[in-house]
Order: sequence, then C-alpha cells, then structure tokens
Amino acid sequence: MNYGYFDDEHREYVITDPRTPVKWINYIGTLAFGGFVDQTGGALLCKGDPALNRIVKYIPQLPDADFKGTTLYLRFPEGEGYRVFSPFYTPTLDPYERYECRVGLGYTRIVSEFYGLRTEATFFVPAGGTQELRDVRITNLREEVVTVDAIPVVEYTHPDALKQFTNADWIPQTMQSRAVTEEDGRLVLLQYPFMFKELKVNYLTADQPIASFESDRARFLGRYGTWAAPQALQQPRLSNYEALRGDNVGALLLALGTLEPGESRRFITQLGQAPSLEAARPDIERYRDPAKVEAALAELGHFWEGYLSRMQVVTPEAALDAMLNVHNPRQVYITMNWSRYLSLYQLGLGARGIGFRDSSQDVMGVVGNAPEEARALIEQLLHVQRRDGSAMHQFNPLTMEATRGEADDEERPPFYGDDHLWIVLAVTAYLKETGDLAFLDRVIPFYEKDQQGKPLEAGTVREHLERALTFTRTHVGAHGLPLLGFADWNDTVNLRKGAESLFNAHLYGKALLELMALAAHLGETETVARYRKQYAEMAERVNAQAWDGEWYVRYFDATGEPIGSHTNSEGQIYCNGQSWPVIAGFAPRERALAALEAVHARLNTANGIKLSAPGYDGFDPDKGGVTTYPPGAKENGGIFLHSNPWVVIAETLMGRGDRAYEYYRQINPATRNDRIEEFEVEPYVYPQNILGDEHPQFGLGRNSWLTGTASWAYQAGTRYILGLRPTYDGLEIDPCIPAAWEGFRARRTFRGAVYEIEVRNPEHICKGVRSLLVDGERVEGNVVPSFGDGETHRVSVVLGGG
Ligand code: GLC
Repeated sequence: MNYGYFDDEHREYVITDPRTPVKWINYIGTLAFGGFVDQTGGALLCKGDPALNRIVKYIPQLPDADFKGTTLYLRFPEGEGYRVFSPFYTPTLDPYERYECRVGLGYTRIVSEFYGLRTEATFFVPAGGTQELRDVRITNLREEVVTVDAIPVVEYTHPDALKQFTNADWIPQTMQSRAVTEEDGRLVLLQYPFMFKELKVNYLTADQPIASFESDRARFLGRYGTWAAPQALQQPRLSNYEALRGDNVGALLLALGTLEPGESRRFITQLGQAPSLEAARPDIERYRDPAKVEAALAELGHFWEGYLSRMQVVTPEAALDAMLNVHNPRQVYITMNWSRYLSLYQLGLGARGIGFRDSSQDVMGVVGNAPEEARALIEQLLHVQRRDGSAMHQFNPLTMEATRGEADDEERPPFYGDDHLWIVLAVTAYLKETGDLAFLDRVIPFYEKDQQGKPLEAGTVREHLERALTFTRTHVGAHGLPLLGFADWNDTVNLRKGAESLFNAHLYGKALLELMALAAHLGETETVARYRKQYAEMAERVNAQAWDGEWYVRYFDATGEPIGSHTNSEGQIYCNGQSWPVIAGFAPRERALAALEAVHARLNTANGIKLSAPGYDGFDPDKGGVTTYPPGAKENGGIFLHSNPWVVIAETLMGRGDRAYEYYRQINPATRNDRIEEFEVEPYVYPQNILGDEHPQFGLGRNSWLTGTASWAYQAGTRYILGLRPTYDGLEIDPCIPAAWEGFRARRTFRGAVYEIEVRNPEHICKGVRSLLVDGERVEGNVVPSFGDGETHRVSVVLGGG
C-alpha cells in the first residue's frame, strides 16, 4: 500500500492519493515569510514569527476533510445553479479522475482532474519574497465548451495566533477588510486588525479583473452554511462586502469565461503582507506578470540546486542516495529555518520560539551546504547565552526575547544542563567547514540587559564557548558529574534539584574534544593541556561511577540512586547513555562494545532503536514528563529517532559499518513507502517519533519534519558512514560502510574547491583507508588538503587493511 512515489529525476515526491492517513506537507518560503502547504492545498503562512505575525488560520486539530487556511473553488453551471468543487479535493471531497501533488524543493504543485477540468496549480514563495504565489492553469478536457469561475479563498487569523483562540470578542471586533479597485477591474483585497491598519496589511489579489469578492465568512458560507457547500457560490456574484468586524476571509471571483475543448486559462494569485498597499505595489505589479512568476520559480530552483550541489553521492543503495541527495538536506534546511516552531505538530502558538539546543544541532547539519546561514544562526543563538555560560532555552525571533522554557518552574532547577554545550559543537562545526577562524574573535553580547535594554556584557565567540564549559564544570553534583538542571537533551526526565546527568557529562567531553582540536590547531599548547586534564577528570568520574556492569547508567537522582540501571525495574537502559560515552571517547573499547551490544539486544527493533526500556507504566511526579506517556510512546520507551543516528555514529567510531548501516537503513523513511499504512506520516522526511514495541500501535510515526533527526541522520550518513568529515586541516576521508559495498562516489564542495571523490573497497572491509590519491598524487594519511582555488580535484581512495 502506498500513497505516492519518489520522482528522483525531478527531485519530487508525488502524492497520488489525497487521502493520506494524516496530512502530508511541504514548506514554502522561510520564517521571514512562508509556512507549510498540505497535499490538499491548505496552507499556514506567517511573516517573521508564527506566534506574533500569523496570516492564515489553519487548525491542524480539525478533521482532515475540513477547510484549512486556504483553498480554491471552481464552479460551472449545472441545473438551476452551479456545480461547485475544489480541485484540491478538500473541503468538497468530489470524486476525481486524477490527483497528483508534487512535493518539490520549495514549491508544491497539484495536478488534478475533476469533472473533465484539469487544474495545474503551483504554490511557492519567491526567494526573499513576502508573498505566496499560486500560479494556476485550468484546462477543459471535455468534448464540449464549459463556462468556469475560479474562486480562491483565504481565511485570516489575528496576527497574535494564540489570542485568536483565547478571545472571541476583542479579536472579531478588530478584524477588518477593505477592497481597492483599479481602473481595469483588478482589485486588491486588504485585511488587517484595526490597530495595525497603518503598519501592516495582508493583501490578496490576482493578475486579472475580479468579477466580485467577499471578505466576511458568514456571508460567504451563508447562515449555517459549510465550507463544503458555501451558499454564496450558488449566486452569480459575491456580495462585495468589506468586513467591518468578524471572521475575515478573502474570496475573489475570477470569471474565466467559456473554455473550448482543449482550451486553457491561467491566473496568478498573490497573498502577501506589507507595511501598506503602496509598499506592496511594486511586488504586486511584478507578480501579475506570468514571465516574472516563472523567473521567480526558476530562481528558487537555482537556490536549491546550489544548496544541494555542495554534496551529492552515488552509493550502491538508491534509497540512501535519494535521502542524502535531496530529501534529508532539504529537511535539514527546513528545520534550521523553523527550528521546532511551526509544523502540523508544533503549532507555533505562544512562547515556544526558536530552541537553543535544537537550532545549535540544526546548524551542524546545514553548515556544509549553507555555511553563511549557519553562521547567522549561530550569532543569533549566542545572543541568548547568559553571562554565566548557560543559555536561555528558547527565544522569539521577531523580538529576540528569550525564556527559560519549562525551567521557569519553582520546584526544579532553573536551567537546562545541556543547551550551552551544544553551541560549542555548532561553532566548531562551522569553523572546520569554513576555516573562518576570525569568527572566534567576533564580539557578541550576552543575554542579560539593563533597564534600557542594553546588554550588560559582551564577549568574543571564544569567550562564549569558554563560559559554556565553565558553567558545566562548576555545576556538578555529589558524584562530581554535571547537574541535570531542569532537563538535559531528554526534555522529559525532570528530576529534583541535585540530580546528575551522564548525558551532560558526555556532551561536555565531546565539547572538550572539539575545543582541544581547535586549540591544537591554533598552537595553544597550554590550553590543550588544560582541556586534556579537564577531559581526563570527567572521563575518570564517569568510568568510576556510571558503569553498571553491562552498560552505562543515565542519571543519578538527588538521592544518589541511578536511573537507567539494571537495578531499576523500569527505564533500565537508555540509548543515549550508551552512544554518547563512545562519541565522547570516554568509554574504553571493551565497555564501548558491551554498551553497544546492550543497545542491540535491549533497544533495537525493526522500526528503529528505542530511547529506553522498559517504559514507565504510570505517572510518577518524581520523574516528570517521561511518565506522562504510556510505555512505548515518545521519550518513554518510544523510538525517538533523533537518538538513532547517535548510535550509528558510535558504531562507525567502533568500525562496525554493517551494523551502522543497518541502523541507518531501518529508519530511512523512504524504505517505508510501500508499507505506509502502519507509519502514516510522510515517507520523504524523518519524523521525530515512532511508537515502540511496547505500544499496541508499534510502528506509527508522528511529529514529522521539525526534528533533530534531520541534522543527525545527515551527519551520520555523510560524515560517518561515507566518512567525509571537515577538519581544521582539510577534508578527512574516513568511511565506515557495509563490507559488501564495492565503494561509492561523492562530489563535495569544501572551502571553495570541489572534490570528486571515488572510494573503492576491493577487500570488502568496513573501515580503513589504505591509500589516498589527490589529483593523481599520493597523500599520506587520510586528509585531503583544502585548496580554495575554485577548481575541481580528483580524490581516489582505496580502503584496505594495513
Ligand atoms: C524535542 C525537543 C528537543 C529534545 C527532544 C527530546 O525534540 O525539541 O529539544 O531534545 O524533544 O526530549
């Protein structure tokens, strides 16, 4: 059973049945202006911030058949009235002859046939644009003429998206619409809350005359009317009413006229936001010209081509290539853009904002393909780091106001134990990719401000990183291990003050390794020695106290009891507890292997590796969030995909390419395409979670798109399995692949040069570079120097023992 297929040639996924188990979406535009569109033409759009400046009302919790945000109706005369239907299937649900939704790079195209009318509609936001364009062509496939009207419709929300739902008097009293007609019959329908009418207006317009319009939902639907059968569409004309209050919509009636058999009509709609109509005019005029709309779509294509072309691979596995060449880097870019702010599952209401740890990890995935954007995001993140080195947990991108997240809770420590450490990994990933060491000297303020809003202190990027390490080093508990804080990476284990986290210890170890490599590259011998000592101290504490006999424990609670130990009855073993001591290099080889064996024996399933086992079976306020889920769901013994690539990476560090790839492959969503009924979510992106085998619905995926899985799966695939790893000295080539592979090829842009890499595996081993030729010349070791000469260099690698 499937709902579509991968069209690799066009870099699209094609949905061929609109009735997917849940909505499947795509993203258009960016956080600056954009949002998502679903496979039935619904869209959620915002400008700058989904919580504070949302444009369209899209309520994911309503049934999938409902109207969501926007749609297009078509109608033709039938009997006494009209046959009214949506070529996007919802909300009218008419029978269709053909349905195709092409999920493309930054655009979605729906091609459908209903009642002998073909609709081809492309939705996108031009690069840097502040409007959604819908380029629509209607073709008459019938043998007789037909007269067609097209009615694009949008339902607006108040920009304060949460208020829209919490106050049903103030909101409707403020929402207003105004129509501005032009001499040639064209029209712009403006919409705004009263208080913003001089500041920012939403506009809906088309490239051709508007026969009539509506801006009030009650008038459009009619009394007790529904979106499936709006009563106004049975009248020849809409009422041309400019809403003074109430539920505002924008509906434009475009009389397309009479189409001969085979004849087409095209129209282009724009939905945007600007400070005023005057300010929007140039854009409105530009995108009334179809040639300019086509040029904008082509430009968007160039952006994606440039972004993806920096890393392309050919391996023996088609499903791996499809993910690494298109879908995974696209998802990395989207998560980098939206953090965990706006999706079908993360609704962008209230204070969620951009997550500090989330975005730090997103940077690591995007840095090879979009280094400039990665740096910009790093800078933004460093602005919300505190003077003591810890970080604010999340912030609002429009106001840069940050919060402590859930840690604003009296009962629990007021900081997250891991946030600040992630930025060390993000910054060093950026430095290794670009060689831009001057970035370390850039001065960036810390978060705390005086009464005038001026930062109290600023420091260089290097200083920010130092303080991050100092915070962890000086916030330790009874075992000398880092305090958990409100939570570490696992948001849902919230223990009482004094609890310690092994994850924080490992992440600190990894951060030290990264800074050691940096200091060594800078020739700072004393600093290297200082880091090495701090590293050895933490490794010692971990190994002396957290080894449980078979695996590493995950936490010590405030009373000193271990969590994630065989002595516990639930939550005996945690996945991150095992992968991270390997990534940090803390685990001696034997322990590393034993810990990874324990993961395989106790946590692995056919759908991925569980986060912990067995699940907690009942709410326990002493453990917090994790026990709010039934066993097998989310962090409570579910398959929390984000942590799977960490096991993949750990396996490659141990040289076990077969197992690493097996773990990688089993979570590749593309491999689920033909058994999607169980998984339900989009096969072209990673979801955050899949129900684990303790849950009756084992295999069900949820929370697709915005997840750290994207960044880490991409890093695991490109940097650890294929082993193309930027270092300060050049591009290290250190594959760890399935022994059966003959090899693979890759094309990688690195510091201004292009590397055509061919890896051969004649002895069928997993890991070990025997020889390296760069442009035909033998190079010792396995690091390709950086050339920065804009040229293409041939790199031939042979794997082999000895
Ligand atoms: C969510 C959060 C992320 C956290 C993870 C595990 O994905 O966005 O920050 O690490 O859950 O709890």
